[in-house]
Amino acid sequence: MKKLFFTALLICGIIHANAQNDAQIRIGTKNTDLIFKVGKDNRLYQAYLGSKLAGEQGSIKIPGQGHIAYATFGTDNLFEPAIRVTHNDGNPSLELQYVSSQTEKKDDNVTITHIKLKDPMYPVEVTLNFKAYFNENVLEQWVEILHQEKKPVTVSNYASAMLHFDAAKYWLTQYHGDWAEEMKMQESELTSGIKIIDSKLGARAHIYQTPVFMLALNAKASENNGELIAGTLGWSGNFQFVFEIDEKNSLRVISGINPFASEYNLEPGKAFVTPSFIFTYSNEGKGLASRNLHSWGVKYGILDGDKPRLTLLNNWETTYFDFDEAKLKGLMTDTKTLGVDMFLLDDGWFANKYPRNGDNAGLGDWQENKAKLPNGIGHLVKEADATGVKFGIWIEPEMVNPKSELYEQHPEWVLKLPNRPEHYYRNQLVLDLTNPQVQDFIYKLVDDMLTKNPGIAFFKWDCNSMITNGYSVFLKNQQSHLYVDYVKSLYKVLDRIRAKYPHLPMMLCSGGGGRVDYGALRYFTEFWASDNTDPVERVYIQWGYSNFFPAISVCNHITSWGKQPLKFRTDVAMMGKMGYDIHVSGLTANELKFTQDAVKNYNRIRDVIWHGDLFRLVSPYDENRAVLMYVNSSKSNAILFSYTLNTRFG
Ligand code: GLA
Repeated sequence: MKKLFFTALLICGIIHANAQNDAQIRIGTKNTDLIFKVGKDNRLYQAYLGSKLAGEQGSIKIPGQGHIAYATFGTDNLFEPAIRVTHNDGNPSLELQYVSSQTEKKDDNVTITHIKLKDPMYPVEVTLNFKAYFNENVLEQWVEILHQEKKPVTVSNYASAMLHFDAAKYWLTQYHGDWAEEMKMQESELTSGIKIIDSKLGARAHIYQTPVFMLALNAKASENNGELIAGTLGWSGNFQFVFEIDEKNSLRVISGINPFASEYNLEPGKAFVTPSFIFTYSNEGKGLASRNLHSWGVKYGILDGDKPRLTLLNNWETTYFDFDEAKLKGLMTDTKTLGVDMFLLDDGWFANKYPRNGDNAGLGDWQENKAKLPNGIGHLVKEADATGVKFGIWIEPEMVNPKSELYEQHPEWVLKLPNRPEHYYRNQLVLDLTNPQVQDFIYKLVDDMLTKNPGIAFFKWDCNSMITNGYSVFLKNQQSHLYVDYVKSLYKVLDRIRAKYPHLPMMLCSGGGGRVDYGALRYFTEFWASDNTDPVERVYIQWGYSNFFPAISVCNHITSWGKQPLKFRTDVAMMGKMGYDIHVSGLTANELKFTQDAVKNYNRIRDVIWHGDLFRLVSPYDENRAVLMYVNSSKSNAILFSYTLNTRFG
């Protein structure tokens, strides 16, 4: 029957359904159904979300009206809206009625459904879009808002998704933290009223709260049992998840860009497209939800998720800002000695008037520092090549130190408030990416480096500051667009870079793991999970990420943090994309041999870790140990990692 349904789609290509009361729109994956109904009042209702229902399209009878699918503000909705619009004439209300729905089949696995809604009195149209990934059981949802009023309308709320649940109880798992303490899991029962998880950091989604959650229905979910959804927003800036339980114990979950301080004046004829809310439904616990997202991430969510990654030696923790050509040459030889693929040169290689010898100067001045690198990057690329390793390099293109030539030459390119002292995070400020000149500057930085040195094999793209004292000279009287336009502008730059360099591997980094989201991962092959590389802490941090992101995307480096033996540190780093940031010359002969063997072992087993199914067997949140197993798809190979963690607090 399922097959018939999809064959029908294939033949038709596009299926249209016009306005008619009681029409049902079924959005399905292999194991999940999300069903909408058009009510007698011509509004759209969410009738069902859960396990796949038996029966063909149209034959399923769902009792009751359901919940308004995308609640507006101003008419009769008394709870949190998904959308809020003020019209040209000052009317602060929106009414959305069903117009049509259309489903296109992209390929054997992917279908996209567009449900068009319209205000009957004002020329405002809202299209709800749903992309269903059949085999991965993942749904992606986003919204397009378009109007033809005479002047801009003000859009104050613009959620990507609104989902409704009716369960006896609701358990929310959130993932929060701080620098070096990313992805701490906390589960709590939702009570009536609103709980909001959000961030207001501007240039990144998180450091304190992460744009991911799990929501278990009726009872707490375990790894293998329980009904839940795992959701995440593909957006690298302010996000908001609203969980509101009403007087009937129904829960609405609204996910999207954080509307905080971000009213958007939308020009007529110009679409406002929200980022995607990505989620999976599981009735077999958190493990299955994670595996669904991993399969989706590798295939659709992460750049080249199905391609191999480069192992590497990074110099950050061994040299910090203190290096020269000779030292780097030595590190390239160490890279070769270890047997990893690439040497990654970190921060500190640039700026001359205000040399980058610490984090307080030079950011923005992307010329090689003549004292450290008299022969430039080109020479380093050649040295790496001669040593038989690849060469990668760190950049932080969106930021500027006030102590820099860039700041002196272009103060108008910097986000900072008039008439107020500047506030810094890590001694730096954020560039105004909404300004096309700044977008060109960043694009040119990357393009020039790669044009001059085609041998550069990898970028680590950092972003160490949030937007503090945010004010854009470029945006003039549209300051409330800043948070939204910053991220859209960043994506514009990344689109340009990817158009010219579609496959260049790039690591996403943000003062540790501050920018880990599927919005950015479309452009990046991997992310830096945390500056905390203590292997015991890392077990917890990586456990948190593993709920939503596949191992292949998580960069784990073996460093000198922590008291655990090298074997422990190596195992932890192997549960992802392994790298090193250690003094190779400080290793004993045995340690060096162990490490060289570990790299070879890793190369032998990594496919099972990168592309296998992850089973989290014992949680470090339940016991003083953690056990995780990766199994390949044919179930012929498995790798089990087991850690004793009772040394954590002395
Ligand atoms: C951030 C990153 C580190 C390193 C430094 C360099 O903190 O997380 O890995 O690159 O910046 O300044």
